Formats: sequence, C-alpha cells, structure tokens
Amino acid sequence: MDQHLADVWFQLSGLEVSYGEGAVVTTTDGVDHLDLTSGIGVVNTGHCHPDVVAAIREQAGRFIHAQVNCYRHDQLEPLAAKLAEITPDGIERFFFSNSGAEATEAAVKLAKQATGKPAGIVFQGSFHGRTHLTMAMTTSKSVYRVGHSPLPSGIFVAPFPYTFVTGETEEDAVARCLKEFDLLLKTQTSPSEVGWVMLEPVLGEGGYVPAPPAFVAGIVERCREHGILFVADEVQTGFGRTGELFACQHHGLAPDILVMAKGIASGFPMSAIGASAELMDRWPTGSHGGTYGGNPMACAAALATIDVMTGRGFLEHARQMGDRFLAGLERVRGSHPDAVAENRGLGLMLASEIVDADGRPDAARAGAILAHLLEEERILAMTCGPFGSTVRWIPPLVITERQVDGAIQAFNNAVAATA
Ligand SMILES: Cc1ncc(COP(=O)(O)O)c(C=O)c1O
Repeated sequence: MDQHLADVWFQLSGLEVSYGEGAVVTTTDGVDHLDLTSGIGVVNTGHCHPDVVAAIREQAGRFIHAQVNCYRHDQLEPLAAKLAEITPDGIERFFFSNSGAEATEAAVKLAKQATGKPAGIVFQGSFHGRTHLTMAMTTSKSVYRVGHSPLPSGIFVAPFPYTFVTGETEEDAVARCLKEFDLLLKTQTSPSEVGWVMLEPVLGEGGYVPAPPAFVAGIVERCREHGILFVADEVQTGFGRTGELFACQHHGLAPDILVMAKGIASGFPMSAIGASAELMDRWPTGSHGGTYGGNPMACAAALATIDVMTGRGFLEHARQMGDRFLAGLERVRGSHPDAVAENRGLGLMLASEIVDADGRPDAARAGAILAHLLEEERILAMTCGPFGSTVRWIPPLVITERQVDGAIQAFNNAVAATA
C-alpha cells in the first residue's frame, strides 16, 4: 500500500478510512474507531455533519470555483457578515485563504503593511505553520525547523509560561516571562521595529497549555503601550474548541487581528483573518490574494458550520463534555499518579502529561498508551508538546457522554496495561 505517496507525512496510524460520522471513523474493512483527534482539531461539528454536507452538496450544484478577483459570489459577504457577528468586538472585515499557515502569514503581511514595521514576536512553543515564514515563527518542536535553514529573519521568540516544564508557580512564571518580554524589547529588538505580537491563547502543538490570564493581559498591555498589533492565532482554539467560540472570549479580549482556520468549515479547506475596517483599509489593494481563498464551497461549509455551532445547546454540550472529560482524566490520574502527572485544558482542548517513575516526561510510555488505545480499544489519539509525552484529547465537540466515558475507561486501561 501507499507506494506512490511521499514518506514526509508523519503517520499516526496505518488505518485506511472510508467513512466518518460524528466522533467515529470507519475503516475500509468496516471497523469503527472513536476519533479523539478530530483530524487535528478540525471537525468540531463531527465528521460529515448533515447540515454541512447538505450545504456543500447544494453549493457544488451551483458554483465550485468563483474566483474572488474575477467576481464576487453570493456566499462571500454573508460569511463575512456572520463572522463579524460572532468574533470578538472590533473584528469587522475578513480576508479568506485556505490553510492555517496561509492565514498566519497573511496576518503578518497585513501587520507589516499597516504598521510599516518589519519585525514580530512569537512565543516559545508556538506552532504557526510550515511555510518558510511560519516555520521561523514555530518553535513547538525542532523537527519542523531542522534542515530548513536559513529561515526568514525578523522573528523574535519570547518565553511562554509552561509551568509543568519549568516547575514554577503560575505567578512566578508569568512575572518571569513578562520581564523577559520587556528585556527582549530592550536587547534583541525594539518597539520601533516590532509591528506585531502573535499568541496562541492555548499553546496547541506546543503542549496544550492555556495562557494564564495575567500573562495575556500583560502582553496586550505592552502591545498597546508600544503601538504593536496583538494577533491571536485561534487556528486551533477557535470555533468552540475551548468551550467559547473563540478562546479570546475567556479573556474578554479583542485582538487587533484574529486568525482562524481548522474548525471554521468542518474540514473543507478554509482559513480567514479578521480585523477592524480601519486596519484592513491600510492593506493596499492587490498586495495580497490567492487563487482559491473565499472559495464558494468553503464559504457554504463555513456558513453551515457556524449555524450549527450557534444553534441551541451546541456550545453548552461542548462545555459539559469538556468538564466530564477532564473530571474523568482526573480520576485516571488519581488511580495512576505515578504515570499521569497533570491534566489541564479548556473545553475539549485537553491534555495529560505522562511521566516516568522519576517524574520526567515519558515519551515511550505515552507512545505505548496511544498504541494500546488504537489496537485494543479502537481509539485514535495523539500527542503534542516538546517531549512527545503529552497526550492531547481533542474530540469532535459532538462527542456523546457514552463516548467520553468509554474514552476515559480506555485511557485507564491503557495506563494500567503499560505500567
Ligand atoms: C495554532 C496553529 N496555527 C497555525 C497552524 C497551521 O495550520 P495549517 O496546518 O492549516 O497550515 C496550526 C496547525 O496545526 C495551528 O495549530
């Protein structure tokens, strides 16, 4: 099998799937698996939500590719208007592209044009994409960067408070990271050349670490003080993943630029950035674009996705399942404190730190747990974080109580079986 595919893709499982519904994917030989990856945080409405499928089918019969520079199709403005309604205050105009990396790059291009400043700051452990610029902005694991030098310049990396790794209290970590941020602006660059700061409100690929509110507030305050645009990368945290439509809403925060992808269209490739009209007006016409951005099928899928998510009870269900999942993970930790050192997260963006007898990150055990889940329990999960020892739990938000309870029981079995 797969003789003609590049080996460059990291492979979580050897499953060949042909069908997906809700939180379940079915292999070509008819075996159901519970998908706790959501295709890396994409199918928040579940695989093949019927409303999304219907919208794509209907749109496919009318227009598949209506190129945005050539003409405007009838899903574009409705989607932009809908996004203006559901995104944080002040986000009112939108640019569409296809992937998360394209959107984070677009945010940087807008920030450069709007501020006239060339440089930007990201945080240790961030993941912003795999293109050359976004690789330079990504420090979640060195595998994404090694072998690709030289990377574009003008990107500075400030520390992020990941207390499980540093062993500090949250208060100490926040104070240290904010001090280091100030020092960076005095020693490596300066507010006169920094146009933007980009932050994931929950560090994603870097370990599923929610940014402490005091840290977010401190960074935003510094951005305001220095005339730097604050960009929230909500590619993974957006569209209900953390229990709010956007993780910024946990902080009562309105970013200058909001970056969206993944959950936006339930799996149809789409990404977007949003900003105020005043900021967008500083982006010279023709200085950015793309063949497929704003594709009508993607817009139709996004509109249907948003309708589902803003429908009665959807987010409430996601929050309840998040609480139930985290409570279950805590019970597993209670039974196996020697192996599960910490559970954390927001909504259904949860993680468990797997450690060895000395409390050090244990990638081998985490790998064995994933293998057990896959082979014995028919459950797909994946890791994140710098050591490969953090198991992330990121099911479709439509996961049922029974499926959550089954996943927790399976995790408990996997930890016990790999002791
Ligand atoms: C926070 C964040 N930003 C950007 C990206 C890049 O998205 P894509 O893989 O669609 O380019 C990802 C992908 O995982 C992400 O999690």
